[in-house]
Amino acid sequence: MYKIVDKTELAASVKRIEIEAPEIAKKILPGQFIMLRVDEPGERIPLTVVEKNIDQGTITLIFQEIGRTTKKLAALEIGEDVLDLIGPLGHSTEIKKYGAVVAIGGGVGVAEILPVAKAYRSVGNQVIGIIGARTKELIILEKEMRSACDQLYVTTDDGSYGEKGFVSDILKRILTNHLITPACQVLVGGQSPNYPDLVYAIGPLPMMKVVTEVTRPYQIKTIVSLNPIMVDGTGMCGSCRLEVGGETKLGCCDGPEFDGHLVNWDLIILRNKRFLEEEKKALDR
Ligand SMILES: Cc1cc2nc3c(=O)[nH]c(=O)nc-3n(C[C@H](O)[C@H](O)[C@H](O)COP(=O)(O)OP(=O)(O)OC[C@H]3O[C@@H](n4cnc5c(N)ncnc54)[C@H](O)[C@@H]3O)c2cc1C
Ligand code: FES
Repeated sequence: MYKIVDKTELAASVKRIEIEAPEIAKKILPGQFIMLRVDEPGERIPLTVVEKNIDQGTITLIFQEIGRTTKKLAALEIGEDVLDLIGPLGHSTEIKKYGAVVAIGGGVGVAEILPVAKAYRSVGNQVIGIIGARTKELIILEKEMRSACDQLYVTTDDGSYGEKGFVSDILKRILTNHLITPACQVLVGGQSPNYPDLVYAIGPLPMMKVVTEVTRPYQIKTIVSLNPIMVDGTGMCGSCRLEVGGETKLGCCDGPEFDGHLVNWDLIILRNKRFLEEEKKALDR
């Protein structure tokens, strides 16, 4: 059993919980995730560890309530337990000095990009953050991302906060019109374009797909963190299989990060819809 020691609401249906899990806190690295089961008849779901506190032996998860399990998790209060946690799982992010890194988070993906942005900056990269959500109320962790990045752009689909549009629109603008200076200020105009050395995106699948289409013509290395449906998270069931560069890969063991230019997006988008009927029934129950 793993006790919830803190809980806050970051936005409508987005919760942040801190759980006592000292062994995981000691080992987990940016980019890795855990599998969590709320109770005995429940399914396991993958969630990224957003923060850890080794001294207090806790990990922080941020999740959106979208179905039965995330709603059950959100209903737990401080002092209550989740049944089990398995982790760290997946490969950690390769943290090295690239130069200028654009870190993009969409929706609850902002929570997942935060530790990655911090880690890239901690080794001397200049980090330009772009975060977005449908509306102002759904923007999370803006303050934290501002301090994790050298520069931050915020977008909302409806224009209720930040710039109106999608995170990919800002990326497109940076690449087509602007310069990224070594001081990491994006300047209008200029002579020779200075592109980012790496783009890293986490968010809804259609968003990540568009980001890879924006960077493809520039041949900028683009990493995405994929969210295929996982059952065991340890390579046993095949549920999370994907096609990357024409080869079959497992999201849990080979990922969750992949070269976005090699991902078969149509396949993962299709496969993630395969239990829609069952998910709806489970939620109704
Ligand atoms: C490596 C990884 C890290 C993730 N990290 C986060 C995170 O930090 N915060 C967050 O809010 N979400 C995260 N997710 C997505 C999260 O796991 C799903 O939202 C959750 O499983 C939905 O469960 P549910 O029962 O509430 O909803 P359901 O009704 O079961 O599903 C709703 C939708 O969520 C997706 N989904 C369902 N089951 C799974 C599953 N077992 N694995 C993956 N996706 C599933 C499907 O697209 C489905 O249509 C992550 C997914 C992966 C693969
Ligand atoms: S979740 Fe079962 S193999 Fe990846």
